[in-house]
Amino acid sequence: MTGPIPFDLLPETAATDAAGQLTVGGCNVLDLAAEFGTSLFVYDEEHLRNRCREAVSSFGEGVAFAGKAFLCRAMAKLAHEEGMHIDVASGGELHVVLAAGVPADRIVLHGNNKSDTELLAALDVGVSRIVVDSFDEIDRIEGINHPRAPKVLLRVTPGVKAETHDFISTGQDDSKFGFGVSSGQAQLAVERANASDAMELVGIHNHIGSQVFRVESFAEALKVVAEFSEPLGLAELSVGGGLGVAYVEGESAPSISAWGMMMAEACDRLGVSARVLAEPGRAIAAKAAITLYTVGTIKTLPDIRTYVAVDGGFGDNPRPVMYGSDYTTFLPRDPGADRPRRVRVVGKHCESGDILVRDAPVPFDLALGDILATPVTGAYGQGMGSNYNKVLRPAVVFVRDGDARVVVRRETNEDLLATDLG
Ligand SMILES: Cc1ncc(COP(=O)(O)O)c(C=O)c1O
Repeated sequence: MTGPIPFDLLPETAATDAAGQLTVGGCNVLDLAAEFGTSLFVYDEEHLRNRCREAVSSFGEGVAFAGKAFLCRAMAKLAHEEGMHIDVASGGELHVVLAAGVPADRIVLHGNNKSDTELLAALDVGVSRIVVDSFDEIDRIEGINHPRAPKVLLRVTPGVKAETHDFISTGQDDSKFGFGVSSGQAQLAVERANASDAMELVGIHNHIGSQVFRVESFAEALKVVAEFSEPLGLAELSVGGGLGVAYVEGESAPSISAWGMMMAEACDRLGVSARVLAEPGRAIAAKAAITLYTVGTIKTLPDIRTYVAVDGGFGDNPRPVMYGSDYTTFLPRDPGADRPRRVRVVGKHCESGDILVRDAPVPFDLALGDILATPVTGAYGQGMGSNYNKVLRPAVVFVRDGDARVVVRRETNEDLLATDLG
């Protein structure tokens, strides 16, 4: 981990120009920082499109992009253009995706605690599927008794614990999500849904967690779910999302195609006749982006460590704080440079826990004013972020073929007062 940044952690079109500086989507990254300011999310549009295409060719019609990973109108539009459906997990996500012009019949509504208002909004526009998560939700849909009975999938928990962080592990019996298979709740839910005129049960859904590297976990869950769902003769079976991505050197993750192939083989083995659906988020968006920061303060504590403070922090990437996630760093002015020095990259929020990269490899000549990049920040960064300390949220730029367009502008001080009635 002292050599240059490996390009396989960077967006697909990442390259170096004649000066040895990093380009993404044909745009010099330092120029982007100068033009749009930092901190800044830079998304490689080609990378996003290629991952969407890979998902569609691996899983076919109905594969959905999990909007929670990264959502803005440009992203929803892009995923739709590339043939994906979109999974939304709240009325807010539904609003953004509809505002992007995505037809309702390409949208799947998720959520473990959908309100009447959210359900009604989804029913009024006619979303493609509602993934029903609880008996209370069945009651709520029946209570609404909308003239257009929705097609629903029931989310079940197969009792499989994915090897990932507890906060993003969802397939175990002890979960706030879904109906347990082993407890018999899933069977009861099927009976309730089948007996209801207020909904049409078309399938079973499961999602074991996120950032799952061990593909066998998906197959183990599928076995339980298929044994439960096949006798029901339902048309659809969703394997959820959750495919992991590599964030740092030494990690490797299966591609979407390999995941799709493995699920198809498992389905063949298990005699699954239902159409298999999936909803990857991270695997589409994570590696598509890098975040650019400006180094503002370097504090060296002899015999302890060096802190490198940048103009962002857990407000644009809460994953290190939430899950202890690792990231790496490099300097786009010279991505070919060795990175023999270890520093701690921290943000500007008033918390000691505001750490972006615990053990960051950087070149010896890292200096104040440098633009520092963290790769693989395209999922669960911008979306999970906050403006704690009223630190303004970064802009998001899409780059492609030498063009850069701002798809989410930087937050302003006026935005901070937009909901504050004084
Ligand atoms: C139901 C559901 N589907 C899909 C996803 C997307 O997961 P990932 O981004 O890991 O692919 C999630 C993430 O939490 C989820 O809860």
